[in-house]
Amino acid sequence: MRGLGLLALLPFAAAKALRARTTACNNSPDLCSKSYGEITHLGAHDSPFVRDATTDYSTAGDQYYNTTLQLDAGVRLVTAQVHKSDSEWHLCHSSCELLDAGTLSSWLSEIKTWLDSNTNDVVTVLLVNSDDATASDLHSEFQTADIGNYTYTPTSQTSAPSTWPTLQELINNGTRLVTFVASLDASNNTVAPYLMDEFTYLWENPYDVTSPSNFSCEPDRPTSVKGDISTALSSNRLPFMNHFLYQTTILDIEYPNASYVSTTNAPSGGTGNLGDTATTCKSDWSGRQPTFILVDFFNKGPAIDTVDKLNNVTNASGRTNLTSVSATSSASTYSNVFKGLVEVVQKAKDGSNPSMGEWIWAGGDWGSLLSGGIAL
Ligand SMILES: *[C@@H]1O[C@H](CO)[C@@H](O)[C@H](O)[C@H]1NC(C)=O
Ligand SMILES: *[C@@H]1O[C@H](CO)[C@@H](O)[C@H](O)[C@H]1NC(C)=O
Ligand SMILES: *[C@@H]1O[C@H](CO)[C@@H](O)[C@H](O)[C@H]1NC(C)=O
Ligand SMILES: *[C@@H]1O[C@H](CO)[C@@H](O)[C@H](O)[C@H]1NC(C)=O
Ligand SMILES: *[C@@H]1O[C@H](CO)[C@@H](O)[C@H](O)[C@H]1NC(C)=O
Ligand SMILES: *[C@@H]1O[C@H](CO)[C@@H](O)[C@H](O)[C@H]1NC(C)=O
Ligand SMILES: *[C@@H]1O[C@H](CO)[C@@H](O)[C@H](O)[C@H]1NC(C)=O
Ligand SMILES: *[C@@H]1O[C@H](CO)[C@@H](O)[C@H](O)[C@H]1NC(C)=O
Ligand SMILES: *[C@@H]1O[C@H](CO)[C@@H](O)[C@H](O)[C@H]1NC(C)=O
Repeated sequence: MRGLGLLALLPFAAAKALRARTTACNNSPDLCSKSYGEITHLGAHDSPFVRDATTDYSTAGDQYYNTTLQLDAGVRLVTAQVHKSDSEWHLCHSSCELLDAGTLSSWLSEIKTWLDSNTNDVVTVLLVNSDDATASDLHSEFQTADIGNYTYTPTSQTSAPSTWPTLQELINNGTRLVTFVASLDASNNTVAPYLMDEFTYLWENPYDVTSPSNFSCEPDRPTSVKGDISTALSSNRLPFMNHFLYQTTILDIEYPNASYVSTTNAPSGGTGNLGDTATTCKSDWSGRQPTFILVDFFNKGPAIDTVDKLNNVTNASGRTNLTSVSATSSASTYSNVFKGLVEVVQKAKDGSNPSMGEWIWAGGDWGSLLSGGIAL
């Protein structure tokens, strides 16, 4: 009561400044005045592909918590693969028979609901355009989700800007959803200019890493900057750091290495930890911090510790802490894969024809299959 009285006595401008200073943007008041491209956003790789009870703890899941819970916990970049399935645009991991997380529009609705109730946050979506959806195909999904009002439209569709708006500017304008698509023909996109072709605006380090000693800070995509850090930096593209580990097993199946993730995502300690790798990359990149860090099982590590450190955030507010929750299933990932193989072989024996997706899952070489430019 007394505090409220004091606030009432302050001149209006002073009271407003006091309130503004304590309002967090993306969980910290210190980030409000920072440029979107200057800070580090924590990314959940394959955000809708969840390894939980809803997917029977699928080994194709890369996260333990769904997109809403990821955002609640401080994730600000969510990625997904878009596939065509029965004339609909679905989010599927490699194949819709392997893991189908529903339609793109329903996932966008989930994100819209979150944006509706978190009014001071900027979220980035990266869609991997696996089946070459056109801008208007994707636009329809955004319209169905009624999320169009939140989208940010860049000043140019064909080149990266030298500076990006601050979080506060994006918030003030209500354009709190930044959308990249890998890939989209920008020259022909008049219907949805908010859909940004990923590699026009960003560059990435390698993503197909199967050994913790093999994480690299070298530009890998787009090919125009491959292996050349100074060209990548001077192109104005934002640095996008992939930091997830695959494991390979018999039959060359690649899937997320969950047993080592506590080290992979850790702020320090152990080969391939996120904190040391980010420090190395920032140094290799002439002091430029990664704009995005993309991880599997984001709550492990916890990965957000490294992001906070890069952002100089010591007192984050308004997010949940999922660090302590153990979300490992009783089923071992290895036995799940083996079970899958047995089921497919059983199906073939029974005379039914296992689908392509099932074979890919059980016996395919994901690495060579997907190395054609798709970030899993
Ligand atoms: C996300 O997961 C939580 C916990 O399991 C659940 O309560 C919630 O309904 C889920 N949200 C969506 C949009 O699926
Ligand atoms: C989106 O903006 C339009 C035009 O400003 C407005 O009529 C509509 O109500 C808005 N929709 C939402 C969901 O806010
Ligand atoms: C905010 O909206 C105004 C009016 O549409 C526009 O001129 C300005 O460029 C926008 N700012 C940003 C950062 O997008
Ligand atoms: C441009 O887009 C239109 C409508 O989406 C499509 O029909 C046409 O084939 C596209 N042209 C090129 C050159 O991609
Ligand atoms: C690690 O990188 C080296 C050099 O690029 C390569 O020869 C080796 O095969 C990689 N190891 C794994 C497990 O990918
Ligand atoms: C996961 O990575 C660790 C570290 O390289 C390795 O020891 C472990 O064998 C990997 N897990 C599997 C199942 O390959
Ligand atoms: C954090 O502090 C370092 C060192 O002063 C600086 O280089 C970096 O730009 C800061 N990052 C942010 C997002 O404020
Ligand atoms: C950290 O944030 C909390 C809640 O927003 C606030 O009460 C506290 O004073 C802050 N501490 C520092 C050191 O800024
Ligand atoms: C989150 O919870 C873990 C485990 O309880 C704890 O060690 C950690 O300090 C917490 N982090 C924050 C930011 O509260």
